Amino acid sequence: PSNNSQTEGLLGLERGNCRAKGGSTGFKVAILGAAGGIGQPLAMLMKMNPLVCVLHLYDVVNTPGVTADISHMDTGAVVRGFLGQQQLEEALIGMDLVIIPAGVPRKPGMTRDDLFNINAGIVKTLCEGIAKCCPKAIVNLISNPVNSTVPIAAEVFKKAGTFDPKRLLGVTMLDVVRANTFVAEVLGLEPQEVDVPVVGGHAGATILPLLSQVKPPCSFTQKEINYLTDRIQNGGTEVVEAKAGAGSATLSMAYAAVKFADACLRGLRGDAGIVECAYVASHVTELPFFASKVRLGRSGVEEIHPLGPLNEYERVGLEKAKKELAASIQKGISFVNK
Ligand code: NAD
Ligand code: LMR
Repeated sequence: PSNNSQTEGLLGLERGNCRAKGGSTGFKVAILGAAGGIGQPLAMLMKMNPLVCVLHLYDVVNTPGVTADISHMDTGAVVRGFLGQQQLEEALIGMDLVIIPAGVPRKPGMTRDDLFNINAGIVKTLCEGIAKCCPKAIVNLISNPVNSTVPIAAEVFKKAGTFDPKRLLGVTMLDVVRANTFVAEVLGLEPQEVDVPVVGGHAGATILPLLSQVKPPCSFTQKEINYLTDRIQNGGTEVVEAKAGAGSATLSMAYAAVKFADACLRGLRGDAGIVECAYVASHVTELPFFASKVRLGRSGVEEIHPLGPLNEYERVGLEKAKKELAASIQKGISFVNK
């Protein structure tokens, strides 16, 4: 590692044995793409998570500075930095959870699929490293286009003989976070009181908020449904346009990624009743991957919830979502097998 905990380096301390506060076991987490717009605040927030005992920060640029900076925070996790492809394997060995926000973000006028050509190769290389060094780790994949990068990861793992559908999760939590925020605004409630299931995938029409299943139970006018569906589906584009060429959502994404990673870690710890939406290998539709509510546990995804009753508006949306998703999934699979 190029720049890890100075104390470890100078005094030769070996702190591999993870004990989080309260005597419970802590987890080892790696962030790949840790010096980026999402990676930096994500690294900061994971350093604040008491369930994390070791935090590995990997990127192809700037990890020494980010690591030195974050390692001064007086929280329990030991932080180590890894720079460049030659340190990827060292960054991954022994990890329980690997979070991947590596790759290029959108600029105005681009779709997430326009990122495929660059990000597909990045995700493939990183997943080859995971298959080799920590095949049992839970993987949280953030890099876009998520609808295709998750199938890419699955194909890489299948080729390596390590694929476990329970351990590969595409992060769609930002869609849920946005949906909760926008629905709470309309209902005049606190966002924390609202739970909106968002299913399908993570791009445009594939993002399908199930407004008929909002908790607490409520009803919307057709005008509200149109407004909310459009705002949730285009929340990413709203941020891309507001940033005007300086990237896409990073801060809300880091928040959502930590919320999701924390749920995965609590599941790994054995907490009961952890249910979140994620894009996973699934049988809830005829497609091989689909986002829906999943129950997280010691082995990752322990149960995939069915979609539940949909109204006519949602059924139409589902058909549209499935058509686009099918093409994105196939594109990812073909990329690895070409
Ligand atoms: P960014 O450009 O600010 O950061 C990306 C980081 O990845 C950079 O530090 C870069 O050096 C690093 N990187 C590039 N190639 C790498 C490689 N081979 N190995 C390791 N690291 C590498 O971008 P960002 O704003 O942080 O966004 C990252 C990705 O997350 C984008 O693809 C974006 O579209 C996606 N994203 C997804 C969601 C979601 O909801 N799933 C939300 C927001 C952004
Ligand atoms: C988002 O939803 O904010 C991300 O997928 C980034 C993007 O390109 O919109």
